[in-house]
Amino acid sequence: MEKGGGVKSLSKRSQELKPTAFAEFFAEAVELQRSGEDVMHLHVGEPDFRTPKHIVEAAQEAIEEGFTHYTPPGGFFELREAISEKLKRDNNIDADPEDEVCVLSGGYNALYCAFQALIDPGDEVIVPEPCLPQYWGDIILAGGRAVALELMEEEDFKPDLDKLQMKVSDRTKVLLINTPQNPTGSILTMEDLEEFAAFAENNDLTVISDEVYEKFLYGNYHHVSFASLSGMAERTLTINSFSKTYAMTGWRVGYAAGESGLIAKIRGVSEHTIWCPSSIAQKAAIAALRGPQGCVREMVEEFRQRRDLITAGLNEIKGFSCRTPKGAFYAFPSIEKLGLSSMELAQLLLRKAMVATVPGVAFGQLGEGNIRLSFANSKENISKALERIGRVVEECLGGH
Ligand SMILES: Cc1ncc(COP(=O)(O)O)c(C=O)c1O
Repeated sequence: MEKGGGVKSLSKRSQELKPTAFAEFFAEAVELQRSGEDVMHLHVGEPDFRTPKHIVEAAQEAIEEGFTHYTPPGGFFELREAISEKLKRDNNIDADPEDEVCVLSGGYNALYCAFQALIDPGDEVIVPEPCLPQYWGDIILAGGRAVALELMEEEDFKPDLDKLQMKVSDRTKVLLINTPQNPTGSILTMEDLEEFAAFAENNDLTVISDEVYEKFLYGNYHHVSFASLSGMAERTLTINSFSKTYAMTGWRVGYAAGESGLIAKIRGVSEHTIWCPSSIAQKAAIAALRGPQGCVREMVEEFRQRRDLITAGLNEIKGFSCRTPKGAFYAFPSIEKLGLSSMELAQLLLRKAMVATVPGVAFGQLGEGNIRLSFANSKENISKALERIGRVVEECLGGH
């Protein structure tokens, strides 16, 4: 059969979707590893820790007990109840487990269903950029248009709030916020959040608040959920996930919480796409929320040490300049002084230093001039990667 040219009826939507640079780098890094190279995987966006034992045991028990069938769309009640308790306790959000919480197959799936439920063809979504590329994919699949709000590196990747009003048209429906942010590691302060809240209210926008990195904060920062701000609960959809907090990326379980009419539609979309998330993963998720939380604190403390190591190390490499990320687990140094595009540098680092990173341009044009390095890797590997990057930059670029 002819490969890639046979089917003539591909949708315009699917053709508009571009493969992410992640997929490209992931494939090349895996290929190099397979050929025997010692590749440092600093491109991956997932904790390198194992899922805590008590969570794994809950899943094993679920299998043993035969909890291996469909659950209702939107997740089974006990998990929605545990999520509702968590939202009250950690986020100061009131969400009725009956109809204001929907369990989905990870944050990605929650985002996809949310955009399907909110966006009509031609509608616009304001999205801070550089950002997770899947936001654009979801918006394209819903027929909408993403409008970029610049994150300013010189201001610690804060959104350019002065430009916010200029981004609005009569088709603007949704404002997306993400704090702590991927890929910049920046966070929104209370002041930023309040400004966004006033803006959302004045322009009657729905806000999607992606909070999957809420626990990954370093220093004296405290996560504030957008929905907990006065008057914002009715217009905010909170997206969260078990992936990062509990090192559960492969389990594929996350959730959306918000106003019951919107949640009903999100559940409807999920019913027609996945029906329900894995029953076994849902049982594990209950153990994650109701079990001991020390494992999360330990992981975050380890990440803080790695963050300090990678930031200091990158700033010692000529041509790199790295702000200290306040949250998430990514360093996003500027590489402008090296005189290479982010794609050229990422390719050079992979092929010559055997260090996989992600070019900033993968997160949008506004990410050009930076690369993303994940510090979800051991200190030993981070040190090794830093040493190799320094050497290759020196050898190939003359240490600009
Ligand atoms: C900002 C952000 N949101 C959502 C997700 C989705 O994660 P998951 O689907 O594993 O919950 C990711 C994953 O990297 C992310 O970085």
